Amino acid sequence: MKTLDDLLGEGVSGRRVLVRADLNVPFDKASPGVISDDGRARAVLPTLVALRDAGARVIVMSHLGRPKGAPDPKYTLAPVATRLGELLASPVIFASDTVGSDASEKVAALTDGQVLLLENLRFNEGETAKDDAARAAFAAQLASFADFYVDDAFGAVHRKHASVYDVPSLLPHYAGGLVLKEVEVLRRVSESPEQPYVVVLGGSKVSDKLAVIKALLPKVDKLLVGGGMCFTFLKAQGHEVGKSLLEAEMISTCAALLEEAAGRIVLPVDIVAASEFSADAAFDTVAVSDIPADRLGLDIGPESVALFAETISSAKTVFWNGPMGVFELAPFAAGTRGVAEAITKIDGFSVVGGGDSAAAVRTLGLDESAFGHISTGGGASLEYLEGKKLPGVEALEK
Ligand code: 3PG
Ligand code: MG
Repeated sequence: MKTLDDLLGEGVSGRRVLVRADLNVPFDKASPGVISDDGRARAVLPTLVALRDAGARVIVMSHLGRPKGAPDPKYTLAPVATRLGELLASPVIFASDTVGSDASEKVAALTDGQVLLLENLRFNEGETAKDDAARAAFAAQLASFADFYVDDAFGAVHRKHASVYDVPSLLPHYAGGLVLKEVEVLRRVSESPEQPYVVVLGGSKVSDKLAVIKALLPKVDKLLVGGGMCFTFLKAQGHEVGKSLLEAEMISTCAALLEEAAGRIVLPVDIVAASEFSADAAFDTVAVSDIPADRLGLDIGPESVALFAETISSAKTVFWNGPMGVFELAPFAAGTRGVAEAITKIDGFSVVGGGDSAAAVRTLGLDESAFGHISTGGGASLEYLEGKKLPGVEALEK
């Protein structure tokens, strides 16, 4: 696979380079247009800076959210262009469409060292189309803008989308530094993790994590389960979970996993149970055997944090994906914070896999440098650990 360094070695001054980035950043729910965590934008900066400083005409493309194949002002990348300009300390030109007349004119007018961001890729049906021809047609429009393609959108490499999978077949293609680093770390964790290997999983749904649990169980010493998904496991153990998140159709699957794991899946022992999903809710810490019928669990309790921290403390490798509770609401952040802090203290290598957990690290003000690696891709890193082929990586390898 060719890399950005190869491209820089070939010389890019005056050449147009199309960069797929993952600028799918979260926004502050209370203040529209305000980015709550710009980690993904910062992660791609080295690639953009290197190209800009080498005199390339840089065309950046990304998706944001999940608009339905047509322009939707809710998902405009305009605020991200502004933020990217601040981070680059040089203006970022913004095109109000992706492959339309504004984009074409702005691409044509680019001068050496300028950076242009195209509007949200997903405002176009072709980006995510299942139909190969529809994707290829959109990819051809994107590819016509440039001489070279660089993929540094690790968070999107698991998507068989036009900008990720089809454009590289039309242009000389190169992997950016972020994609290379992420793949190297995940290869290390999945092929030769130093033992003991502890995996911490949270987030809301078991169904999203089922494949990765199955793939990891044979490899891990302990799998710690928190977040909304723990309630389906607790129910499978015979506990009542009140109004907590529950995937009823997954209970028997969870029971089978618990049996297969023979004690290696570790569940919370106490829960912060709230009257409603709100920062102002009434709440108590209860044992998992005593979750009241009218309450919902929004975090793991302190005894669970202590139990998880103890297990984590002896690990040589930790992979963590998914918050332990609703960390965005202050009363329910302690579980995620406690587990994250325990991970920072290990004498070994830790990987924070993905979107929500990476955002949690920064939102909670934890020291990012205390983790071995913080991934920018939640879904992508899970699919890698499941052993799936990642379309974006495959396309770069061709
Ligand atoms: C993510 O947030 O996981 C990536 O940006 C991919 O987004 P998607 O899940 O909407 O494809
Ligand atoms: Mg996601």
